[in-house]
Amino acid sequence: MPGDAVYWDDRYRTIGHANASWYQHRPVLSLRLIEELEVGEDAAIVDVGGGASALVECLIDDGYIDLTVVDISADALEQARAQIPHSHVEWVHADVRIWQPTRVYEVWHDRATYHFLTDAADQARYWQTAREHVHAGGFVIVAVFAEDGPTECSGLPVKRSTVAELVAAMGEGFDVVKSEDEFHLTPGGAVQPFHWVVAKRV
Ligand SMILES: C[S@@+](CC[C@H](N)C(=O)[O-])C[C@H]1O[C@@H](n2cnc3c(N)ncnc32)[C@H](O)[C@@H]1O
Repeated sequence: MPGDAVYWDDRYRTIGHANASWYQHRPVLSLRLIEELEVGEDAAIVDVGGGASALVECLIDDGYIDLTVVDISADALEQARAQIPHSHVEWVHADVRIWQPTRVYEVWHDRATYHFLTDAADQARYWQTAREHVHAGGFVIVAVFAEDGPTECSGLPVKRSTVAELVAAMGEGFDVVKSEDEFHLTPGGAVQPFHWVVAKRV
């Protein structure tokens, strides 16, 4: 079924993470935004839909020690784990639409996963999960295709958003710290406009 674990495993097996449209050799903007939060190196950071991103590897290099990656694709997690076999990362194979975290986090990071939730109930539940599992004073960093971005990613429809729409979807309990625009250059040479929002859990 489009969007389920089998679908995403197939995507990762077929194309390999380094050829995926969302691939970044180094997630520079994510790293800068996390650094700007000035959380400690022991802060609990979760990368929601992190897949095989290099983010946790880079965060480990920067000294962070409490890292979790959640993804619907076991293959993606395996590819990520293979890059850093001896590192202590919590790998969570779960569908964020029904994931029930067993702890709270200081930083919730999501680049290009939330926008696959096109159903309003799934979106509301996603933000409810974040509200309940980011502790007061913690942060969410979320990046989605902008209103003039692609209508699909990886063969699936996405919900494009303005910054205002994304903030409205987050609902109560989050104070916006900042937003940024980014133009991601895919390995195939396409330009994808993103909006990033950083918000504090209050
Ligand atoms: C466009 S990729 C972005 C990956 C990563 N965040 C990055 O920036 O490289 C979307 C990721 O979300 C994952 N994903 C899609 N739907 C999901 C869901 N419902 N629950 C958890 N992960 C999901 C996919 O397996 C994939 O790894």
